[in-house]
Amino acid sequence: MTHIAPALASLSSLVLVGCGKMGGAMLEGWLRAGLPAGAVNVIDPSPPAEVRALIERAGVSTKRPTTPPRVLLIAVKPQIMDGVLETITDLAGPETLILSVVAGKTMARFEAQFGAMARVVRTIPNTPAAVGRGITGCVANTAASDDDRLLTQALLEAVGRVVWVKEEAQIDAITAVSGSGPAYVFHMVEALAKAGVAAGLPQDTALSLARATVEGAGELLFQASDIGADQLRKNVTSPNGTTQAALDVLMDEDSGLAPLMTRAVSAAARRSRELAG
Ligand SMILES: NC(=O)c1ccc[n+]([C@@H]2O[C@H](COP(=O)([O-])OP(=O)(O)OC[C@H]3O[C@@H](n4cnc5c(N)ncnc54)[C@H](OP(=O)(O)O)[C@@H]3O)[C@@H](O)[C@H]2O)c1
Repeated sequence: MTHIAPALASLSSLVLVGCGKMGGAMLEGWLRAGLPAGAVNVIDPSPPAEVRALIERAGVSTKRPTTPPRVLLIAVKPQIMDGVLETITDLAGPETLILSVVAGKTMARFEAQFGAMARVVRTIPNTPAAVGRGITGCVANTAASDDDRLLTQALLEAVGRVVWVKEEAQIDAITAVSGSGPAYVFHMVEALAKAGVAAGLPQDTALSLARATVEGAGELLFQASDIGADQLRKNVTSPNGTTQAALDVLMDEDSGLAPLMTRAVSAAARRSRELAG
């Protein structure tokens, strides 16, 4: 058990609605961080087998609570959320923080459901949360208190890092950078492997090289957290060397990675706005 954040230590009750990949990863992180199993109720008709095993092993209740919890965390798929909200609206009390990880569902949607005075925090985690290395972007409505923010921070730090923005509109940019971002990196592995095959390598060798390179570079970034990505890049780039030759292509102002990534992120942010309606 690691050090438990004070906000988690004093958390009396949390209801987790939807305990699949994201909910299960968070539950695992909270229990690892020392949150007592008795503080959590899970509402999910069919959690995945490994999450069900965790719930049973830890002794987490799957009964519907009879009193309003301090936190009502919603982690169901966006497509079914509206229907699910109808079944849990009565669970929330005036002290309940409505905490959502549901992509594309705005704070106004929760205020419409739980009342204009409801305390709402909307968040966008990403998939590395499953290994405790996620990053979650958060925004709070005006009814949410400092204590609500601290609670959110502690709950989401159990699966990685947390950043806050002031404007809900910035959630679309967070979705486009870190929410969808892991897929861009996975695609980079595919592209690097494909380029390796074009340079003469067997496919499985190229894939192993590309994958291990991204894993290792990610770990270097993680471990050397006080060194900027630009400096790490410069550290492995000798003037006129092989890396420099590739970076001249990748860093071309017009056709390099930066303008391509700007277009990709802008397309994702646009789609995020469309999905939020
Ligand atoms: N996975 C990620 O990395 C990620 C990243 C950012 C945000 N999110 C957000 O996290 C939310 C959950 O995503 P996920 O990947 O964890 O989905 P998921 O694995 O499908 O988990 C959702 C869980 O909710 C359950 N469920 C279905 N109906 C329910 C009901 N009426 N009441 C309570 N639970 C119910 C599902 O059961 P069934 O499987 O039987 O339907 C499933 O176990 C989504 O809104 C997504 O936008 C996920």
